[in-house]
Amino acid sequence: CGIVGYVGRRDVLAADGSADPAPGINSHSALDVVLEGLRRLEYRGYDSAGVAVIADGGIESRKKSGKLSNLIDELDARPLPQSLTGIGHTRWATHGGPTDQNAHPHLADGDQLAVIHNGIIENFAEIKASLTAKGHTFRSETDTEVAAVLLGDIYRSLAAKGEASLTKAMQLACQKLEGAFTLLAIHQEQPDVVVAARRNSPLVVGLGENENFLGSDVSGFIDFTRRAVELGQDQIVTITPDSFEITDFHGQPAEGTEFEVNWDAAAAEKGGYPSFMEKEINDQPAAVGDTLLGRADANGRLMLDEVRIDPELLKSVDKIIVLACGTSAYAGQVAKYAIEHWCRIPTEVELSHEFRYRDPIVDGNTLVVSISQSGETMDTLMAVRYAREQGAKTVAICNTNGSTIPRESDAVLYTHAGPEIAVASTKAFLAQITAAYLLGLYLAQLRGLKFQGEIRDILSDLGAIPKKIQAILDNADQIKKLAREMADTKSVLFLGRHVGFPVAMEGALKLKELAYIHAEGFAAGELKHGPIALIEEGQPVFVVVPSPRGRHSLHSKVVSNIQEIRARGAKTIVIAEEGDEAVRAYAEHVFYIPETPTLLAPLLATVPLQMFACELATAKGYDVDQPRNLAKSVTVE
Ligand code: G6P
Repeated sequence: CGIVGYVGRRDVLAADGSADPAPGINSHSALDVVLEGLRRLEYRGYDSAGVAVIADGGIESRKKSGKLSNLIDELDARPLPQSLTGIGHTRWATHGGPTDQNAHPHLADGDQLAVIHNGIIENFAEIKASLTAKGHTFRSETDTEVAAVLLGDIYRSLAAKGEASLTKAMQLACQKLEGAFTLLAIHQEQPDVVVAARRNSPLVVGLGENENFLGSDVSGFIDFTRRAVELGQDQIVTITPDSFEITDFHGQPAEGTEFEVNWDAAAAEKGGYPSFMEKEINDQPAAVGDTLLGRADANGRLMLDEVRIDPELLKSVDKIIVLACGTSAYAGQVAKYAIEHWCRIPTEVELSHEFRYRDPIVDGNTLVVSISQSGETMDTLMAVRYAREQGAKTVAICNTNGSTIPRESDAVLYTHAGPEIAVASTKAFLAQITAAYLLGLYLAQLRGLKFQGEIRDILSDLGAIPKKIQAILDNADQIKKLAREMADTKSVLFLGRHVGFPVAMEGALKLKELAYIHAEGFAAGELKHGPIALIEEGQPVFVVVPSPRGRHSLHSKVVSNIQEIRARGAKTIVIAEEGDEAVRAYAEHVFYIPETPTLLAPLLATVPLQMFACELATAKGYDVDQPRNLAKSVTVE
């Protein structure tokens, strides 16, 4: 989600001629500043938007589902009074569908308090229950409203003791909240204050003259100031027109890091990266981390609350069919290996558009798992509809809350990759694989096939993945250099085995999509049955090599494949596990990824291949965000 906060004296500044409105802003109210920020942050979420201001001694708010333009129409129809303090939100739904009611801000404390939020509050159900027991009521299904009501409740009790302070109330509230969140709050009793809190979710302060700003990132205020302060984790900031004060969640003073923003406005939206694609590749540790968030209880038992299919029904499933298109279908291929291994349920993966035209065998004991970033892909939607007609139960793994495929499915497991803007999928892919693992483990848990300890171990291996992805991202120079050197390559092959096979195919797809280079992914074992005829002197071949650890490792088989192609002149580029020195002898280039259990390795091995394709396409001067002929969401069959 995108978040903006503003408090200032723009009107005073304007009256004495000391400040001009920013370009495109023709008045000086907080609302205009907030809307400008939201316009720049809309890439962070666009399923609903809302604002709240303090004016004439009270809180006034407008919110609307759909794009920011819907909110602007609403504001034209029902204008808000001039004000000096405001907050705004553009939403990417996590809890609760993208409706007007669920849009932010959420009001509490007798509508005197407004809150906006980015992130997920993990223990919201617990807090909601205790607030309900105290007599509070709720108007939405969101975890945000729970935070708002909690904050209001705490503020009221402080006020009753004569200690009313929004900052103090925020500190106390944050001590109770678990999860990842950025919260912004305003209260009509403190008209020139905005308070914000941050835990594992982004927040920056913008410093102006007689005015201060808050944003999910600097693009929220880049039109107004370039002086910014980054907050640390578990910090709270209180801004007024001429001050900002940072504390930790216990009220101890803390310091942020001040910096000067030297990006232009367009670069700011991309977090300083030259393209959304690069930003999204770099967002992947968070995409995986957020998708894992809040899925297990204190004992390591998986709780997929969203999967509201009767556990008894899930236990009786005797076949799983995974349906998807494009990159999502490769996530499905990885899912097959994991689900069959953990659950012992036969699992087929099929391209959605092939599925329903071949008279597939589907019945009441079939579980259909659709995977779609957008939730709107027509091929997948039609396949899901067909499966339901045949009596199958359907679960959607989807990144877009409230989209059509999850709405038409029996259950949904949302990935929390955040909006993916670049047409070719990257962070959504890793989030989909993560969600598929969770689903597989959940089914195994339900069927009693895995000891709880084993599930806990796999979850902890998954929990270590974001840092490992980060390590790969931090060592990007070598692969990027190779990509630039290979900019004139006409054809690249990719080989992989087991879960490395879908990774190879995804690596090839990325290169086709972004760099328009002929690329093919093969199962390494299939090589000798045909594709090896393609190998000639200098042919570049990427090989995804499995870990040499483990009893059933295919390492030596894949190394033999490398030798076979090398003997025929191939130039081999190897992705291998750290410590695997044996492959060095057979490779022109080796890129190491951190150690991880084989089944989870796609979450790491994919990353260098994405970076390679992105860098190579950039070197060729192509637009990696909008490759030719492609669309982000294909809503025709
Ligand atoms: C389009 C996009 C691909 C995507 C595929 C499936 O072809 O260009 O990047 O993988 O659709 O999209 P979905 O939204 O269903 O995951």
